[in-house]
Formats: sequence, C-alpha cells, structure tokens
Amino acid sequence: MFYDAAKRDHGMPADPLKSLIVPRPIGWISTVDLEGNVNLAPYSFYNGISEFPPMVYFSVTGTYGDTPTKHSRMNAELTGEFVVNVVTQKLADQMNITTAMVAYGIDEMKLAGLTPVPCRYVKVPRVAESPVALECKYWKTIELPTEPGREAMAGSMVIGQVVGIHIDESIIEDGRVMVSAFNPVARLGYSEYTTVDNVWKLRRPDDNVQEGGAHRVFGKPPA
Ligand SMILES: Cc1cc2nc3c(=O)[nH]c(=O)nc-3n(C[C@H](O)[C@H](O)[C@H](O)COP(=O)(O)O)c2cc1C
Repeated sequence: MFYDAAKRDHGMPADPLKSLIVPRPIGWISTVDLEGNVNLAPYSFYNGISEFPPMVYFSVTGTYGDTPTKHSRMNAELTGEFVVNVVTQKLADQMNITTAMVAYGIDEMKLAGLTPVPCRYVKVPRVAESPVALECKYWKTIELPTEPGREAMAGSMVIGQVVGIHIDESIIEDGRVMVSAFNPVARLGYSEYTTVDNVWKLRRPDDNVQEGGAHRVFGKPPA
C-alpha cells in the first residue's frame, strides 16, 4: 500500500506512522523550574545526534495549555539544563506515571515514587533508579514546520550537549556496557513497547582496529 502523508488516507483506524519509526529510545527527561521544582516526563522522539561533542535532542509536540509549551522544554530553556534518564523494563510503570498531564510545578518524580539524586554539572536531579543518566546543557530549540490546521500540535526539537554521564557499575562488565544487563525500553506504535533483550554483532568489513568506529575514521583521539 501507499498513502499520502499529509492526507493520511491510509484507511486504517489508527495512524500507523509511529509504528513505522521503530523502535524509538525513550528519553526520560528531568528538569527543574526557576523555583527548583522537579519535572520528569518521557519523550520517544529522542535520540543522540552527534558524538564530538555528544549531543542529544528530544522533540516536543504541542502543549497542554497551562504553559506555552510542554514543561520539559520550558524548563530546559529557562534554566539551560536537562537530564536524560534511561527507562528500563523494571521502570516502565513508573515511566508511564510520569507522562501524566499535571500542573506546572508538580513533581512527577515524586508522584511515581522515584528517588531524585543530585547531578555533578547541572542543578537538575537524575532518577536514582535509572542505571544511565546524561547530564545536558541546553543548546537551542528548533521550531519545526507547522501543518495547516494543526498549529496547536506544532513540533520543536530541544537540543542539548551532554556534559556528564552516569553509568551504574552493575551494568559494566570487562570495560563494556552490557545492554542486556539493564534492558532499556523502547517505544513502538499504538500502546506498544519493546525491550532490548536480544543483542547480536555485525562488524564492519574494515573494522579491524576496534569496535566503536570513531578511531577507525579519525585516528586516535588526542591524549
Ligand atoms: C513513552 C512515551 C513517549 C512520549 N514521547 C513524547 C514525545 O516524543 N514528544 C511529546 O511531545 N510527548 C511525548 N509523550 C507525551 C509526554 O510524555 C506528555 O505530554 C507529558 O505530559 C509531557 O510532560 P511535560 O509537560 O512535563 O514535559 C510521550 C509519552 C510516553 C508515555
């Protein structure tokens, strides 16, 4: 089949788009407002976008109306900071609680019974229960094109530079992060999710130096 993306003439009861861009990692974004109130929310339009320096984005669709944009973007712009926490299988229910549409200033980390723990380079707390957290300095927001009639659902990309990285020792083995030891959760379409529990290798034909890639292309990083 083929359908026109703008007309959405797919004939299906639910828009299939999000089940086609899969799996999407979930950025569980913690921020604070100017009074220091914590905010936590999941964003699956999230990803890493560069390595040198490490940069990530999360993308916001519309707002619920009590603030000009969703709280995570508001806070990242106001304070210049955000943290990406990783959602594991064990944390899926708590992640789901933090998507609740609650008033600005309400702490979803507390609502979900999670533990805030201080970061090193940003004032935003990370989620103690999450084995990986990326401390980020806000860089810029890119406003995405709006679709006629859907202005209220306009999208924007919030981009930040990763300045500090927490990895729980329990998921490191022989100097490598064992993804299968923490089972990150990713978003599919509809109400579906998946868990990374099946890891296999495919080495590039020219990968005779070391896994990871960057050294192969650029030589050794400066000491
Ligand atoms: C798994 C999951 C992924 C989500 N991804 C996004 C997303 O990429 N962009 C978005 O605007 N909302 C997304 N949402 C909805 C937000 O989490 C929700 O609007 C939340 O209330 C926003 O919180 P905030 O205003 O505190 O930032 C997602 C929800 C879930 C459960």
